[in-house]
This record gives sequence, structure tokens and C-alpha cells, in this order.
Amino acid sequence: MPDVKTEVTDFLVIGSGVAGLRAAIELSNHGNVSVITKDVPSESSTEYAQGGIAVALSDEDEVGIHYEDTLKAGDGLCSEEAVRVLVEEGPERIMELISWGAEFDREGTKLAFGLEAAHSRKRILHAGGDSTGKELERVLINKVKAIHSIRRLPFTLAMELIVRDGACLGALTLSERRRVAILARATVLATGGAGQVYSITTNPQVATGDGMALAYRAGAALEDMEFVQFHPTSLFLQSAPHFLLTEALRGEGGRLLNTRDERFMGRYRDEMELAPRDAVSRAILMEIERTGSDHVYLDLRHMGEDFVKRRFPRVYSTCLTYGLDITHEPIPVCPAAHYMMGGVKTDINGRTNINGLFAAGETACTGVHGANRLASNSLLEGLVYGRRAGQTAAREGGEAKTSRRQMDLSLSFAPMPPHSIPAHDEIRGDLRRLMWLDVGIIRNEETLLEAKGKIEQWRYITEKSFLTRRELELKNMIQVAGLITEAALLRKNSVGAHFRSDFPGKGAGWRQHTTLMKKRTETDIIF
Ligand code: FUM
Repeated sequence: MPDVKTEVTDFLVIGSGVAGLRAAIELSNHGNVSVITKDVPSESSTEYAQGGIAVALSDEDEVGIHYEDTLKAGDGLCSEEAVRVLVEEGPERIMELISWGAEFDREGTKLAFGLEAAHSRKRILHAGGDSTGKELERVLINKVKAIHSIRRLPFTLAMELIVRDGACLGALTLSERRRVAILARATVLATGGAGQVYSITTNPQVATGDGMALAYRAGAALEDMEFVQFHPTSLFLQSAPHFLLTEALRGEGGRLLNTRDERFMGRYRDEMELAPRDAVSRAILMEIERTGSDHVYLDLRHMGEDFVKRRFPRVYSTCLTYGLDITHEPIPVCPAAHYMMGGVKTDINGRTNINGLFAAGETACTGVHGANRLASNSLLEGLVYGRRAGQTAAREGGEAKTSRRQMDLSLSFAPMPPHSIPAHDEIRGDLRRLMWLDVGIIRNEETLLEAKGKIEQWRYITEKSFLTRRELELKNMIQVAGLITEAALLRKNSVGAHFRSDFPGKGAGWRQHTTLMKKRTETDIIF
């Protein structure tokens, strides 16, 4: 039996969060679609999104104001064209979702809009109080299940993209320890983010940067990898994971206190707790240092027990399971890695620089978020750009010459490596701690060079030996950690979420984007 089995589909979607599913729905009008995901279908960052989805649909709002707020949060590095597409197409995508059965919270018969940091209007739709992502995933999975041309393949991990003569022909996958080459006319990468490269993160276990690493190895350009968003408030309890404490808690009036019981945000920003995320995260870090502690508090006690329980049922019940009643006690919090603004560089139609390869959602960098994402814009991005990537992939995907390709490819995969990565779980832990300490909220040349050196060593150890999903994830994490570090070294200024203590101002050249690509030179910076 050959080592690699081959399967053929019209379109391959890698990832089953909001962007992947929305792309698959679009593609299903044009042929058969295989959606692969390395875990159960619902396990994605989408599922865990609490706060909501930003859209200019309320009576007091306009797309032009949403546009301005997004550009302001992005700190001068957003693509204006990409933002315009997002805010203009957003309302239609939301109405479509409602027509497919999405139930957003309402006040009476009208949609209820919440406020979050850096939004100048109430424009955040939410579902089940603080379970918005779960509702989106429910609706999209139900929609996909009802479409017969979509085949869902859970527990199938993409190992490498198959690129021949400059075109992507699909992906080599691993499923139940068997390798399967899935050949497709077009491939859409939608694998989400990379928060797991940090030891403190709000992201689920699956967020190991797979799509970014696969694309880089295949020769795709990655943009702005230095911009990692740290969410200001994750739960800080010895016995609990770093559960996200949604921005909406501050939007509804939650206050930040240091361990001396002082409300400190006024020292840093006029907008207080509603300043952009990067500013709040840095302020928290400084207070932690100033007070010699390892956390601060988010205080909701003044908001009233009934309101907190009704508006934030998931946060309330989750904290209660860890013995914390948030209606009576302040919540210990610290910042956590949350979102990658950078990723696989695409145009506004999801095209990458490789023919036949498209990307959407957190894996991609459309330029919509610039240097700092406006809260709750990511689910909207997944819907708007997932659909666009699907449309373009359907239109431009190559012709179905798959049987010849099948033959050509049958002998061309390297054999599986003979042995596992030694001590790979230890390396994983060390990598994550290193990234938090040296490539975290505040970086400088010394910490970045130290990280780069260690990552190089780990890359050498892990490059050729991997047998399991966990080892492949480690290989991807090391690759993405290296790219974040490299981009952070190259950007010798501070803008948005990227803060260099050795270059604390914007300085000359801050408007340049950082583009990393394999092969041409080790790293290419395109100005
Ligand atoms: O705070 C939150 O609920 C997260 C929202 C987001 O990352 O957009």
C-alpha cells in the first residue's frame, strides 16, 4: 500500500471557524468542498468569542464612524481599502446570518448593541449575553451540515501545502496516523491564530499558528507578524486557565484596580478603562511592576448582582466554578496573548502570492486591523473576508486536471520521519515561556535576540522529526514564534500593539509594513 493516499475535491478549506465555514458555504455553489479541521468541528477561536461582533447597524451609528474607529485603533497602519470593505459589507453579512437563524440579544424587538473599548458608538451585537462566538459557530455549522456538497473531515491535520510550479494543488494531511494528499482546484487557509505560542493566552489549544507556518514554508508572504494583540483581562487564578474576561465587562462599567485598591487607568489615559487594548495592557503591566504584584483586579461589584448575572452568564458561571463570585469579589486579572493582527498577506479578495492559495480570518493579514485590532471586529472580518475568499477561489481556482496531478504526485512526498522529536513537550513549554518573557507586551533588542537564538536551536532539533499532531504543532509554533521575533526585531519603533522599550516612539519609517518570505532572501522587508 502506498504511504500516501490521494483524494480529489474541487475546493479544500483548512479550518472550521467563522472564516472557513463562511468560505465553504460560498464555494459550495461551485463544486465539492472538503473542510478539514484537526479537532472536532466546533473547536476554534470563534467558539470561545464572548464579547461580540461589531457592526454599524444601530440607529445612532454609521459605517463611516465604524470606519474611523477602526482606523484610529489600527494606529495608522490599516489598509483603508480593506477597512472600507469590512464596514460596508458587514451589515449585509449580519442580516444574512440572522436570516440563517442567528439569535442576537435584543431589547424588546430591537437588536441590543453593547459598547467596547475604542468604539465611539454602541455597536457590538452579542448572543446569550457573552456567548456570541458559540452562536455564530452553531448557525454556520448547521448551515454547512445542510449543504450536501460540503464534506467535513474532523481530526485531519494539514501537514504541508502541496505547491508545484508556483501553484497550490492542495495539502498533505494526517488523519489517524495516515497521510492523505487532498488535491483541490483551490485551497483556502482559515486556521485561526497562534496564541498558543505564548504561555499566557486566551486562545484555545488548537491555536498553534498552523496556517501561517504552512504558508510560510510554501513560499507565501507573511505581513506584520510583530503585531500581537494582548487582551488586558484574562482570569488570573492559580487553579484556573487564563479564561477571557470580555472587553464588554469594561464597556458596561467594569473598573480596573491595582492590588492597593487604587483605580489606576486615569494615570495613563483619559479614556480610562475604555482606552485601546494595547494601552490598557501596558498600563496593567506597569501597575503590576509598580505594586510588586503579579495581577490587578477587574471590579464589577458596583454593577449589581442581577445585571452581571443576566448580561454575563458565561463569565459569571465560569468564575463561580473556580470559587469566585464576581458579583461580590473583584476578579484577579492579567493581560494575555489574544489575537494576531499579522498573518498570511492577502488582498481584499483573499488572494495570497501563490496561485490557488487563498486565506481568510485570523490566519490572514488583509490589513484590516493595522497595528491594533478594534475590539469585536474579528468575527465580522471572518464573515466578510471568508465569503470574499470563497468567491474568488471559486472564480479563479485552477481547472480540475487532478488525475494527471495525482500521478505526478504519487511518488513525490518525503517519507515520514523515522523518530519523534525528543522531549517535545518540554520544548513546547520552554518556547511558550520564552515568548511571553522576551517577545511579549514590551520587547527590546536584547530580549528579542535572546529569543531568536533559542528558537533557532529548537528549529534545528524539530525540523526533520515529527510523527504526531502535537509534534507537528510544535514545529509550526516554533516557525511562527521565529517569524514574530524576526518581525519584532526589524521594526525599530513602537506602534500599536508592538512596543519596543529601546525605541519607545513612532520614529522614522513607522508606516512601513514588515513582510517576511522564505527563499528570495532569508527575510525580505518590503517598504
Ligand atoms: O473582549 C472580548 O470579548 C473580545 C473581543 C474581541 O477580541 O474582539
